[in-house]
Amino acid sequence: MPDTRPQIRLTQVVKDFGTTRVIDHLDLSIPQGQKVALIGPSGSGKSTVLRLIKGLESYQHGQIEVAGAPVPEPPRGWRWPGPRQPTVHRVGMVFQQFNLFPHLTVLENVIEAPLQVLRLSRDETVERAHAYLTMVGMAHKIDAYPATLSGGQQQRVAIARALAMRPQVMLFDEVTSALDPERVGEVLAVIRRIAHEQQMTLLLVTHEMKFAREVADRVLFMEHGRIVADGSPERVLVNPENERTRRFLNLVAHH
Ligand SMILES: Nc1ncnc2c1ncn2[C@@H]1O[C@H](COP(=O)(O)OP(=O)(O)O)[C@@H](O)[C@H]1O
Ligand SMILES: [Mg+2]
Repeated sequence: MPDTRPQIRLTQVVKDFGTTRVIDHLDLSIPQGQKVALIGPSGSGKSTVLRLIKGLESYQHGQIEVAGAPVPEPPRGWRWPGPRQPTVHRVGMVFQQFNLFPHLTVLENVIEAPLQVLRLSRDETVERAHAYLTMVGMAHKIDAYPATLSGGQQQRVAIARALAMRPQVMLFDEVTSALDPERVGEVLAVIRRIAHEQQMTLLLVTHEMKFAREVADRVLFMEHGRIVADGSPERVLVNPENERTRRFLNLVAHH
């Protein structure tokens, strides 16, 4: 029997920051292996959705599950971004700001979590690091420190670091937004490759609409903490029925 449970499931999730409702009774179900693009205006709650799935945010109401298991909330008083917390290892996340450890080499950055969290042997983690750094085209920089790398190179190392945990789900939050324009392509190429070659579930926030159309099976348009359009890239991006989606796409296209 194939496993038909959704890989990611949010049920009636509510997230408030103070008196501001940021996520408003959100329902979302993503099957295993689906590649989903999440788009929408700034402040609509896209990053918050990703952080909730990764277990980096508490919430007021509802349920969040990954692979059938509840996502634990962070300890009381812990706020993102903050010191390390017992997070969801089956979910990998890559951020807009690469967040590499500046005092560690590329290799040390990639093996740190498999060593400390998964408790793998050093040989095994080094082998994994080589494989994923090769995949992102960064094996030649294995002994470099992050500060000596371009933004695109740092972001590719951050992707290898997330993959080295062999997550079931990968979350990408506007991972090209902080890059120089000439560096965007190399990072998108890596994600495109992951989308086409890996069986894992992908949820990616992006403003690159052409890219979203290429890699996504499904596009979600978010506004005011709700999903207001949900469908194939053709339906949501090419011929949007939703008036607000249409206006947003016009804005992005003329940006
Ligand atoms: N730590 C925080 N404290 C207070 N408000 C926050 C915090 N993080 C996000 N917000 C607010 O939540 C809303 C959604 O933010 P976010 O999920 O980052 O949106 P997006 O990623 O779509 O731009 C915004 O109004 C933002 O100002
Ligand atoms: Mg965001």
